[in-house]
Amino acid sequence: EEDDRICPPEEYADIISTLPSFESSGLRVRLYQGVWLLDHVVPGIMALQRRHKPQLGDVVLASPPKSGTTWLKALSFAVMGRAAYPPSDADHPLRRLNPHQCVPFMDNLFSAGQEAKLDALPSPRLLHTHAHHSMLPPSIADCKIVFVCREPKDMLVSMWHFVRSSGSSDFPFSALFELACEGKNPYGPIWDHLLGYWSVSRATPERVLFLKYEEMLVDPVSTVRELARFLGVPFTSVEEAAGWPADIADMCSIDALRGLQANKTGNTGLFFKCSHQSFFRKGVAGDWVDHMTPEMARRIDAIVEEKLRGSGLTF
Ligand code: A3P
Repeated sequence: EEDDRICPPEEYADIISTLPSFESSGLRVRLYQGVWLLDHVVPGIMALQRRHKPQLGDVVLASPPKSGTTWLKALSFAVMGRAAYPPSDADHPLRRLNPHQCVPFMDNLFSAGQEAKLDALPSPRLLHTHAHHSMLPPSIADCKIVFVCREPKDMLVSMWHFVRSSGSSDFPFSALFELACEGKNPYGPIWDHLLGYWSVSRATPERVLFLKYEEMLVDPVSTVRELARFLGVPFTSVEEAAGWPADIADMCSIDALRGLQANKTGNTGLFFKCSHQSFFRKGVAGDWVDHMTPEMARRIDAIVEEKLRGSGLTF
């Protein structure tokens, strides 16, 4: 069980007090190493950079918030754990627990001073961070990393719904949109987040697998196979014949997960309580059309396009 104790950032208070910051809708955001972080995240990233203890075989999942993290956690956990828990197992952890209970979020664990929980994980460990690649200590940057990202407009819409469902009902979409255009949304700028992992994945594809949410939606079974190959545990012909890649994709589909008791009830999160249910909203591509005017869409598309120009990354 997680508890709510926040480890006060005394150790880092001097540094933190010098960081540029602003407040939006009651949330304080600070600029640390070029990234805008919610106040409580800063000491976590600082501690992660100083105190993270790597273990051989660690696998790190990385993502901008609201880009398919929950899905990637479920898929990776199912792929890596399939020897102990075949996808047909009625008692599979993913049928009893929310995916966030299966793969810990390092940033907040470190913020809360609870990183010792990471030592208790079975090996090889599966970990998650929202940190930019540039912030990762070498001990993490040397691990295999799976990064998932999402078309930025849909990511923002998802973020807005999520913030609202966690209690900030007076947060207008336009406020988040403006922040995002300036690169100041939580864990922004989004383009730096994307480009950091993109360039490492291009330079060393054996170390960083770069996934796009929209491509996963089109062909989840291929994503499952790709994950298994990348993680060094490709499906055997026996597993293929038994239909495991499709079984894992089915078990981790939004409809299957949303229907489970573990995801209909309960909540997760050390700093904000997020209901398990709130992680399974729509799960589609293109939902931005119901939240943005064509003018807003053109504006953010132009910004993102300009920032990504020449990288080879497009949405
Ligand atoms: P929407 O809000 O657009 O529906 P994250 O996991 O990074 O917080 O991202 C949440 C988004 O992923 C939400 O998007 C959610 O519905 C979607 N999602 C969660 N589980 C999913 C799954 N198994 N398959 C596809 N999308 C999923």
